[in-house]
Amino acid sequence: MAIKRHKRKEPAVEPTTSPSESDAFEVTLRPKKLCDYVGQSSIKEHLIVYIEAAKKRSEPLGHAVLHGPPGLGKTTLANIIAREMGSQMRGTSGPAIEKPGDLASLLSNLEEGDVLFIDEIHRMRPAIEEVLYSAMEDFALDLVIGKGPAARSMRLELKPFTLVGATTKIGSVSAPLRDRFSHNFKLNFYNTIEMEQIVERTAGILDVQMEEGAAHLVAKSCRSTPRIANRLVRSIRDFAQVSNETSVSKDRVETTLSKLGIDNKGLDHTDREILRTIIEKFSGGPVGISTLAAATAEESDTLEDVYEPYLMQCGYLQRTAKGRTVTQLGYELLGVALSEDAQRALFS
Ligand SMILES: Nc1ncnc2c1ncn2[C@@H]1O[C@H](COP(=O)(O)OP(=O)(O)O)[C@@H](O)[C@H]1O
Ligand SMILES: [Mg+2]
Repeated sequence: MAIKRHKRKEPAVEPTTSPSESDAFEVTLRPKKLCDYVGQSSIKEHLIVYIEAAKKRSEPLGHAVLHGPPGLGKTTLANIIAREMGSQMRGTSGPAIEKPGDLASLLSNLEEGDVLFIDEIHRMRPAIEEVLYSAMEDFALDLVIGKGPAARSMRLELKPFTLVGATTKIGSVSAPLRDRFSHNFKLNFYNTIEMEQIVERTAGILDVQMEEGAAHLVAKSCRSTPRIANRLVRSIRDFAQVSNETSVSKDRVETTLSKLGIDNKGLDHTDREILRTIIEKFSGGPVGISTLAAATAEESDTLEDVYEPYLMQCGYLQRTAKGRTVTQLGYELLGVALSEDAQRALFS
């Protein structure tokens, strides 16, 4: 089957999240091609093969789910996939689709080969998810028309498309939906060398000159997360500009980081607060997520999606069946001695 591009008519319904100022900032910094996408080498290697094979067969790529903590490049990668396939991307998000009809309208307006990107796919309602099953499997929609005894079902053929789903919680995606994805890509935190490349790339686009060692320092302080690196580079640029500096020195990076409350391990105030709360109020843990959320005045979801993955990656926190526990490394980070109780809990 050939993938043709048509001039499209606007769909009746296209739920999107409204673009904010920070979205616009991210869009300008987003790499457009796979070769400009730093790191995630295993995902890139696989994608190169799958994209080339799909193009040779003139078929869509096959549905893909991208998962990992926020800011690691899921939306960016979805855009790149569409572009590398020579397709258009239509974007929405799980919570934005309110009724099965909204999704049906989105799907029936797709052109052949289009990429439909659904962000936060784990937050889609079950009734809506069911509409997706036949669309993903057979490129068809099973619709029920009318009510009561007069109701009849109708099958609507769709043009072949690729669904790209993104989620910070792959465990919350239902098994039937997960099974319908041909590709499952887990995005990992970036290492310092990769982060340095990303920092330099962002600095280049924002026309910020970084002095020797400055990019490295930013790279080590951004929780291995490109979105945070971008924000840091922007803040550092602003602080430098206000001080009439034409380039960014290591000193400037250090003073900005300390003004923002980021320590030399790249942890912010909330990261340290979480570890300190577990140590001081719960004897180092284990503590359940909702109790911890109440004690730190954060949402459970924010703790789970935003803070914990990096604290665990660094080895400061561990997740056990009974709850969250601060590790020996976490105690050392805060300069607190491990109590006997905590030792027993950690090493039993
Ligand atoms: N691999 C990468 N290489 C270069 N920049 C990246 C990469 N991944 C993410 N970014 C940058 O980080 C920003 C946030 O990425 P995004 O795709 O929005 O993350 P997510 O959707 O996973 O939350 C992007 O605007 C982009 O500038
Ligand atoms: Mg995103």
